Amino acid sequence: MADADNTEAKNYAADVPMRSEPFFLKGSNNLDWGMKNRLAAIFNPSSGRTVMLAFDHGYFLGPTSGLERVDLNIVPLIQYADTLMLTRGILRTSIPPTYTRGIVLRASGGPSILKELSNEEIAVSIDEAIRLNVAAMAVQVFVGGEHETRSVHNMTRLVDMGNRHGIATLAVTAVGTEMVRDAKYMRLATRMCAELGATYVKTYYVDEGFETVTAACPVPIVIAGGKKLPEAEALQLAHNAVQQGAAGVDMGRNIFQSDAPVAMIQAVRGVVHKNLSPKEAYDLYLTLKDGDEHPADS
Ligand code: R5P
Repeated sequence: MADADNTEAKNYAADVPMRSEPFFLKGSNNLDWGMKNRLAAIFNPSSGRTVMLAFDHGYFLGPTSGLERVDLNIVPLIQYADTLMLTRGILRTSIPPTYTRGIVLRASGGPSILKELSNEEIAVSIDEAIRLNVAAMAVQVFVGGEHETRSVHNMTRLVDMGNRHGIATLAVTAVGTEMVRDAKYMRLATRMCAELGATYVKTYYVDEGFETVTAACPVPIVIAGGKKLPEAEALQLAHNAVQQGAAGVDMGRNIFQSDAPVAMIQAVRGVVHKNLSPKEAYDLYLTLKDGDEHPADS
């Protein structure tokens, strides 16, 4: 039974101002508690960064190399990821519901690799996102693409839906083959997404002036890994990006197509969370590589 009389309570510390810590993520201080809580399930509050394991490629590519068997090739990696980026189909069929970190749900789609890719629509309802307990919804934004306005509108609708329920929106800047992948384009695309409400933005690293892209974007930026590179080069790319202001990586092929995916994701973690140099990270990769093999190959 509760105390009826608490007049003896006196530990009020009346001379100590109430703590009000700023939230650790760039541009996120004025978000609501639920949204911040979900962002803390995507970004590591200690480092302020994330290693997102991306394996949503099948939504337009089908079973691409490394994703033929998600149960065999990807599930062993998820314990090393800060968050997973995937489709609802793969989430329901292949990911154990005991996974407790954030889920970033692919929320746009439509055209396959056989068609005009920028012609996407929103591909999930907010009810479904809530039912799946996701932390963020990811949407492709094709700045300069044939369906630019529609893709921006897809994003702003998801932002409205997500903000209503405290779910973040990740804007994925998709760069068409006809676009020049330089800092000027990335500044335009990322800043547009942030201005129109994205909670955070995914883009590509560029060699010249990437620090101006991160500086001009008022929300966190994560970089896509892109096409498979030799492991040492992929670690260098991740290192350059975080040292120039990225809040982490959203990496797929450079992890799941690696010769040793479990070793590679741990080396990437070293770069992102511990500021390992590319050489230190590559040495870690080589050390861990022994004993790591593709489960589907065994
Ligand atoms: C694109 O298909 C997806 O949004 C991927 O999640 C994204 O491109 C990251 O994967 P990767 O590191 O393989 O580029």
